[in-house]
Amino acid sequence: MTSSIVGRREPPAEGRSGLIYSRFNHPNLEIVEDRLAVYEGAEEGLVFSSGMAAIATAIMAYLRPGDAILHSRPLYGGTEVLIEKTLTPFGIQAEGFLDGLDESSIRVAAECAMTKGRVAMIFIETPSNPMNTLVDIALVRRIAEAIGSKQGFRPIIACDNTLLGPVFQSPLAHGADLSIYSLTKYVGGHSDLIGGAIMGSRANLKLIRALRSAIGTQLDPHSCWMLSRSLETVWLRMERAAINAAKVAQFLSEHPNVARVHYPPLLPADVPARQLMERQSGSAGSTFSFEVRGGEAEAFAFLNRLEVFKLAVSLGGTESLICHPATTVHSGLTEEARCAIGITPALIRVSVGIADDLIADIGRALAA
Ligand SMILES: Cc1ncc(COP(=O)(O)O)c(C=O)c1O
Repeated sequence: MTSSIVGRREPPAEGRSGLIYSRFNHPNLEIVEDRLAVYEGAEEGLVFSSGMAAIATAIMAYLRPGDAILHSRPLYGGTEVLIEKTLTPFGIQAEGFLDGLDESSIRVAAECAMTKGRVAMIFIETPSNPMNTLVDIALVRRIAEAIGSKQGFRPIIACDNTLLGPVFQSPLAHGADLSIYSLTKYVGGHSDLIGGAIMGSRANLKLIRALRSAIGTQLDPHSCWMLSRSLETVWLRMERAAINAAKVAQFLSEHPNVARVHYPPLLPADVPARQLMERQSGSAGSTFSFEVRGGEAEAFAFLNRLEVFKLAVSLGGTESLICHPATTVHSGLTEEARCAIGITPALIRVSVGIADDLIADIGRALAA
């Protein structure tokens, strides 16, 4: 056939297959992917039906039975459960490390992971939800290279960038291969859609794109259209929420009924975690956790007295949300596992939004 015949064209350049069927891609999906890739400074992006769909598709694309995954801890509860419970019956073993700044302990975990199988992926979340612990991405890259020279295959590095991206952090610039998102959170920003994304190079996304097409974990056209709306304001929303969060965190840190606030800018300037945060990201964002004095009863009493903060498990919306991780987002873990990552009965997670009146609300509830 010649190209002059209507409806027949030369295949698009650069390996893209054009718009064939909406499980593979569709115009609204491509628009959001292209815009997100520009924001992230990535060659390409893929959008998914949820953050967990993005994470699961990436893991399934890169891991095979007999492989091992090395990961930071804590991870978002759903990711922890996926790795610990769902992957094990498929013959994929996991090894976690708690201190994402400590080279020697990550190297020990890496050695241990290599005894379990070929380490095909390093999965990190920085800052972590809900503890705001950090992982040094450049350090993880060096360890990935070392694993590569030992086992003859460098593990792909996937970084969950939900809490800071795309405004405050670009994991690809620090050595990660994949920057992964729950778009449900800050990017969506209005608590009215579920979505996920992975940003990276065309080569690194190739396997994931093929698997997404096969199993249909892409996002529907309507939600993609809503995301296009959200992208107009993501900078404004995230910057404003971060300013509010800094004030709330400061207030909490000075309150006698608060035992600890997990928010890196409050650390002294010479503490490595604070220095890493300043090196790796433009802000600490607006999701963090704190412990009230006492235990679950005191935490619940505080939560029940709030009026402006809404008691809900999501984060990253324009409204301010608050939750009790031990009985909600991390309830799928054993008490021992929760304890190891610092999720105590007194811990409360907060996602600060764009409105005012937050400090007055918290102050009232804490005082009572
Ligand atoms: C850091 C992080 N990653 C991934 C997810 C999963 O995203 P989704 O709920 O869109 O599947 C969440 C959800 O809360 C999250 O907080």
